This record gives sequence, C-alpha cells and structure tokens, in this order.
Amino acid sequence: MASIRPASRWTLLLSLVVLISCIVVPGLTVKHENFKTCSQSGFCTRNRALADDASAKGASWTSPYEVDPTTVKFDNGQLVANLIKTTNNGEKVQLPVTVSFLDSGAARIVVNEERRLNGEIEIRHGSKANKKRYDETEKWVISGGLDVSKSAAINPETETGFTKVLYGPNHQFQAIIRHAPFEVEFQRDGQTHIQLNHQGLLNVEHWRPKAEEGTGEDEGTWWEESFGGNTDSKPRGPESVGLDITFPGYKHVFGIPEHADSLSLRETRGGEGNHNEPYRLYNADVFEYELDSPMTLYGSIPFMQAHRKNSSVGVFWLNAAETWVDIVKKSASSNPLSLSANSKINTQTHWFSESGQLDLFVFLGPTPQDLSKTYGQLTGFTQLPQHFAIAYHQCRWNYVTDEDVKDVDSKFDKYQIPYDTIWLDLEYTDDRKYFTWDPLTFPNPKGMQEKLDESERKLAVLIDPHIKNKDGFYVSEELRSKNLAVLDKDGDMYDGWCWPGSSNWVDCFNPAALPWWKSLHTYDRFQGSMHNLFLWNDMSEPSVFNGPETTMPKDNLHYGNWEHRDVHNINGLTLLHASYEALLERKKGEIRRPFILTRSYYAGAQRFAATWTGDNQATWEHLGISIPMVLTNGIAGYPFIGADVGGFFHNPDKELLSRWYQAGIWYPFFRAHAHIDTRRREPYLISEPHRTIIAQAIRLRYQLLPAWYTAFHESSKTGLPVVRPQYYAFPDDEQGFTIDDQLYLGDTGLLAKPVVTKDTFSTEIYLADDEKYYDYFDFTIYQGAGKRHTVPAPEDKVPLLARAGHIVPRRDRPRRSSALMRWDPYTLLITLNKNGEADGSLYFDDGETFDYEKGAYIHRRFQFRGGVLTSEDLGVKGPKTAEYLKTLADVTVERVIIVDPPKEWKNKKTVTVIEDGAKTGSTVALDYFEQQDGKADYAVVKKPNVGIGKSWRIEF
Ligand code: GLC
Repeated sequence: MASIRPASRWTLLLSLVVLISCIVVPGLTVKHENFKTCSQSGFCTRNRALADDASAKGASWTSPYEVDPTTVKFDNGQLVANLIKTTNNGEKVQLPVTVSFLDSGAARIVVNEERRLNGEIEIRHGSKANKKRYDETEKWVISGGLDVSKSAAINPETETGFTKVLYGPNHQFQAIIRHAPFEVEFQRDGQTHIQLNHQGLLNVEHWRPKAEEGTGEDEGTWWEESFGGNTDSKPRGPESVGLDITFPGYKHVFGIPEHADSLSLRETRGGEGNHNEPYRLYNADVFEYELDSPMTLYGSIPFMQAHRKNSSVGVFWLNAAETWVDIVKKSASSNPLSLSANSKINTQTHWFSESGQLDLFVFLGPTPQDLSKTYGQLTGFTQLPQHFAIAYHQCRWNYVTDEDVKDVDSKFDKYQIPYDTIWLDLEYTDDRKYFTWDPLTFPNPKGMQEKLDESERKLAVLIDPHIKNKDGFYVSEELRSKNLAVLDKDGDMYDGWCWPGSSNWVDCFNPAALPWWKSLHTYDRFQGSMHNLFLWNDMSEPSVFNGPETTMPKDNLHYGNWEHRDVHNINGLTLLHASYEALLERKKGEIRRPFILTRSYYAGAQRFAATWTGDNQATWEHLGISIPMVLTNGIAGYPFIGADVGGFFHNPDKELLSRWYQAGIWYPFFRAHAHIDTRRREPYLISEPHRTIIAQAIRLRYQLLPAWYTAFHESSKTGLPVVRPQYYAFPDDEQGFTIDDQLYLGDTGLLAKPVVTKDTFSTEIYLADDEKYYDYFDFTIYQGAGKRHTVPAPEDKVPLLARAGHIVPRRDRPRRSSALMRWDPYTLLITLNKNGEADGSLYFDDGETFDYEKGAYIHRRFQFRGGVLTSEDLGVKGPKTAEYLKTLADVTVERVIIVDPPKEWKNKKTVTVIEDGAKTGSTVALDYFEQQDGKADYAVVKKPNVGIGKSWRIEF
C-alpha cells in the first residue's frame, strides 16, 4: 500500500477540515476567553482564598471581626454599633454597622468603613473617583418597605457577649448577635434558619495606601488589574465586601438570576454534577451563552430563597458592583446543634462584591409567598402591564421596510393568527441613530403605525443607550453640550464601539439626564412616532464591543464621580427609570402605562419593564433551559420574562419551532425573535400541519388572557410569580423541589408541561396531591399523588392539565388582536374538587391607563359551593368605578363548563340564574355530556348571560 506523502496528507487533512466545517453548524459556544473566571478576578480570588484558608484551618480559624460592646445602641427598631476588624499587623479598622428591623418582618444589616465614609483616603492615578463606598444602590432599587418596626425590642434575657433582638409578628423572630467573633443568627420560633459569618468569611477590605516596600501580604491582585488587553487602574485599591450566609437544614436554594441553569442552584466548588465556578452576577452581553452554567448573563437579582419542607427563608444582597456567590452543601452532622431532627443538609453560601457597602436583607418566611411579598415590598411589585403586552409579540431583526411591516400585519390576518405587537430592530433607524427613521426604507412611519392601529396593534422600536458619536446628529450634539454622557477615568467623554460604531453613553445616574431623555421621546421630537409606539431598551448592561468583557471599563466615571465599578449592575436600571418616565406622558395629559423591554436588569426593574433571556439559540437545549430561567426570575420578583421563541441564532426546524410556540405561550412575556441572518419564520410562512399547530398555540394564549391578566394583577399586588414552579405551588412536597420543567399559571390550577425534546410524543407530568387533574382539552382524568403520569403529547398538543377545584376565566372567540376581544363574553371552566367545590377569580380593567387606581376595574371572586356558583365583588369602589362598569354593561358570561359534575346532573335539564337584586331567577338550559375511556363527563350552561361586572348566582 502506497504511503501518503506529507504534502498529500496535508491536502487530505485540509479537505477534511473544509468538509467538516461545511456540514457542521458553526461553533456555538461562548468565547470563554472574553469573560473572567474567578481566578482571573482579583477580589474573587481573594475571597475564595479566604474561604479555603478558613476551611483548611477548621476549628482553629477565627474571624477577625468583633463588635465593640460599648458602642451598641438600640433605639426605635434600629441597632447601631461599631464593628472592629483587627488586621494581621494589629491595626483596628472601624466599621460602623446598622441593623434595622423592619415592619415587614425583614431585617437589614449594613456595614460601612469609617475611613472611606469620611473620605480620609488617597486615590491613585489622579482619579477623581468618589472616596466613599457606594451607598446609593438603595435610591434606585428600593421603592418602599423600609419603615422600622416600633415593636422590635432587645430580649431582656440576653447573656453577656450577645445582643438579642426580638422582632417580627408576635416577636416570632429573633436576631442573635454574637460580639466576638462577630456572628448573627436569625431564628424563627426559636429555631435557627440563617447564620451570618458562621464560617468566618466576613471580609471588608479596608483602605490602605500602596506602600513602596509592600505590606508583606500577597498584594498580587490588590492594584492595577489587566484582562484581555484592558487594564483597570483600580484607583482605590482592594475594597471588596464578602460574607458567608448559612441556611442550616436547607438543601435547596433558588434565585440569583440570571444564569442559564437549573431552578435548584448547584454547588459551585466542584464534584460530580456541580460547578467549579461561583455563580457570577455582572451584567454582560454574553455572545452565544452556554447552558448549565454559573456564568454571568445580562441581568442580576441578588435575591436567594432557601427552601425545605414547611419553611422558606431568604436573603437579598443589595450591592450594584460585580458579585459572585459560592454554594456548598454540607452534611448537617458536622454541625448537629442547629438542626432539627429530620433535616440533613446545610447550604453554605458565600457572597462577595467588588466594592460598595455591605448591605443585606434577611427574610424569615415561613412560606415562599411570604418571601415574595416581603421582598416585593422593598423592591416593588411587578408593574401591571398594558394588556397588549401580555399577548403575542412578533419580532425579528429586521422588518426591512414600512411596507414589509404592513405586509406581515396583513398576513397574520389572512391566516387568522392573532398578534398584538410588531417590533423593529436596529435597522429602522437612519444609520443607527436612534430617534430617527431610515428615509429610504421607512419613509412613512406614521402610515405604518396607523395601519397597525386599525386593529389596535402596537409597534415596539429599539432605542439603545449608546448614542452614535456624530456631528450634526442632534441627539449626539445635545448629549455632548449638556454633559450628560458617561466619562472615562480621566474625566473625558467616554467613547466606545457599539452598533453605530463610535458611540457615547447617556449617564442616567445624572438627574439632568431624565428631563432630556424624556424630551427625546415626545411626539414633537421623536418625529414619526405615534401613540401606539413602545420601547425596547437593549444593550444596556452596557454592551461595549471593544470594552473589557464586552462592557465599560470599571474605572469609567458616572455622575457623582462614582466609578462604573460601583454601579455596573444597576446601569440598565437607571435607563429604565428614565425610559419609564419618558413613556408615561409623551404628550401633556396623555398618561398611560409604559411598556418597555429591557435586556439588562437588576432587582427593582420589575416596576418598569419586561425582560427576556437574551440571545439564545434555535436548539432543543435552549428551549429546555428557558423554563427554569423563566421560573427563577419569577421567584426573584421579576415575573415578566420570556425567551426568544424559535431561538435567536440559527434556524429551527418546524418541529422545534412548533414546540417552542407551545412552550412560549407559557412565558409571561411571549415574543418570537430571530437574528438577521436567519430565514423568515413568521407563523403563517410555516407549512402545514405546523402552521395550524402554531396558530392553535397562539390562540390558546389568547383564550386564556383573562387568566393571565388576573395573574399579573395578583403579582402586582403580592409579588407572587405569574408562572410558578412545583415547589412554590406545593411547598411541603419534597419530591417536587427540584422539578423545573413544568409550571402553574397563577392560581388557576392550570399545569403545563411543554415538550422540549425532539421526537417526543408523550410526556410525564408530576402530580403532588390527590386531587383529580383533567386534560384541558378532552378532560381525561389523571390522579395519584407523588408520582408522574404519562400524558400524550402528539405534535399538535400542548400538554396541559386543569387541577380540580378551580374556576378558570377565558374568552373563546378568536380575534385579530387582544384589544379587539375587549367586549367579548367570557367562558368559565370549572373543575370540582373532592368536596364538590371550586374557586377562581378575574381581574380586568381598561388595560391601558392608570384609571384602575381610581376604581375603574372589575375584580370578581367565583365560588362553587353546595351546588351554587356565585360571582362576588372583590373590588374596592373608587371615583371611576361606576363609569367603568357602565362600559361593561353588555359583557357577559356566555358559557359555564363544569367538568366531572355530579352524576345526578344527567337528569337535570335546567339551572336557575339569579342576578343580584332580582326577586326571581330565570331558567337556563343545562346540557350534560357523557364520555368514555377515562375522560370525565361535563355539563354546559349555555348563555346564562350574567353580567361579568355584576354579582349573581347560578343554582344547579
Ligand atoms: C442584541 C439583542 C438582539 C437584537 C440585536 C440587534 O443582540 O439581544 O435581540 O436583535 O442586539 O439589535
């Protein structure tokens, strides 16, 4: 056999490479080298090293922090003291600490550094950076709930060396502060649930000058730090804050989005199935992000829930700088004292941020619902969105002309697929100058919006915070002349590279940016924009293509001379503050609920905008991970989220696209989106049977909009997620704690399990309790607690069960847009529980204004008890109630469906309908339908025609 000569061997190899690269989809993995690992970040390395050191020393490790007992003062719900850190060379660093006990039952602990607080430090490199630790995160994030509790009191039984404070409802909670070494233990009903500094990892890196000869410590990561060709000057030296937070007896922790990972967070210190890196929170534009990873993504919410049977507790780490969280689960046997008999695992978490003050809220539950509420009282509940915003959004990068938009709009109608909003990405602008239209491709923006308005549809356009740096562009010139841009470390206007090329960034930390940003959005100035135009604020991490880790240098300066380092994670939130104000009143007197989509977020963003999971990919794995990602945001107080339906990068096949729509209808924010290089994939373009499958899925979303809007309303009042994970719905069922592939819609008892794998035509749904669950479409019965049930899932079917005991409001008449359903009648779907009872509710208002604050809404409670269905008013009357109810005078319930009714109803031919105040009732027909093969019978009351805004009863 002739041997291959070297040259031809190379040729062969080359051809092979070319061949392979032709058949394999281009590499889809994140560029790891663009983002830091912990060992490439100075403060992460230092804090992890501290943890390693403490763990190696074991019992001989003592935290160098002590409370000076002579400084402890408790007054009016607040404890103040001086914490003293003793350094290796014996220096005593003064750290003022405040612990506030709040009316809501939360406790807050804040630690600052006296020297930095007083500005008694030197800053290197001639930087003008603020000398203090950043303490204004609260200003942007916290919207209420800070009232201190008048009833919190020192426990008189405190022994020496401790300060104990009783607080919370009936003094159920207690904070036990040990002075030396400093440790705080939080108890509920005498049992410890949260421990701070129990592992001794508290770390407040105090200021010190850079000594020529060094300090003798390892200063390798203290000063300038370089990564990927960028050098961070770090003018204030090391300044991180870190703390360990232990949840004794808790095996599961949830939250701290945004990560493409499971709902129940994994350990981060290695081992099978675990991560090797801490979860990172540093808002970033991560191109082609990877799954099952603790890598940072676009948003961060440092709120964590720990959960076990019968108990949920949580913490909120209020810090806007880069943050990492390590998680380790340890067998409780090493620490038996603080555990109840049946709990076996302690979850030890370790949090550290690069700068700022240490600011932590502690929540003692005891239910997940309590946590959502107390956390929401602080950071705000989700905005009640405009009604259109919870319907279907059609987006792609890009609809190329105004005619294209109109064509898409007409095609949706032609194929009878409802949608509410069409989106314009980057390319509608003139040369990527926001607030302008490309004169060639969008010559008639108003004509386009008017066409959409005919069916009450909306337009959402992209407005990013980077402003093209160009003479003659009015926005750029005003940004410059008004000094409203972010500055570089030398105090000059920062210039970076983004979509428009050379760009500057509006600094929304500057109060003067607000009126300016608002002015840009008025109809007069944003010419060609109409009342049905809404906003998409993208790239606000901020994304900077030539910046370190695709963002801004940390030594950039914002208003108040705060370094970007201090405020990075709330940068996007400050833009939302401004955009929200801008949309609130675009014309004097025209006040409407703003709708904004944001990519970057922080705790509190739920008050202003919807968000999405960024640039995902058209793969089954990305479809799968979207469910836990959406669920995680929900329990972190930010329920209005979805993923790009269909996947942003690459082309989904028809099966994947259809399954994605069937899953996407369960995202609170339901939008299809696609990269500019992908093929068009509007639902009507897809060949049959998939077109119909997709259309049916979208119609199901529209049918259930009354239930969705009610769930959003509830969330806006209580902080509860709109879609809820298994553990949240059944907090006492341990088998459900890690389930993150099925979800519940609000309180409706509707349980969806999207299919997220290829060629899968049945699915397993886990049922926690012994109620019956009915297939939503044909009423097949599933029953049996604590196990999975096989449910058929042919391609045209969304696996969806309705739990017994609920009343679900819906609207069954398909329309072109949700607004056109406004006056449509309702159907009530009733499933009776074991006691023959059911409950449900409905909230509805004009879907657009704030008139609901003046009573212009209906909120009904539906109950089925003792064979009688009632509708009762849950609303509180206001000045606009009567006027609003008049508009609903003709909106009725047109159908009541009762699944699995009592068998004796077979002979019942009628029911009696009695409207409130009426002396006699009217008789309405009842039809009974028998079914076979494991499907429940059902009965239908057709046209009871009771007013949706009225009180009434139907006697069966
Ligand atoms: C970003 C967004 C994406 C958008 C693109 C162009 O990648 O995440 O949704 O289409 O920018 O504006």
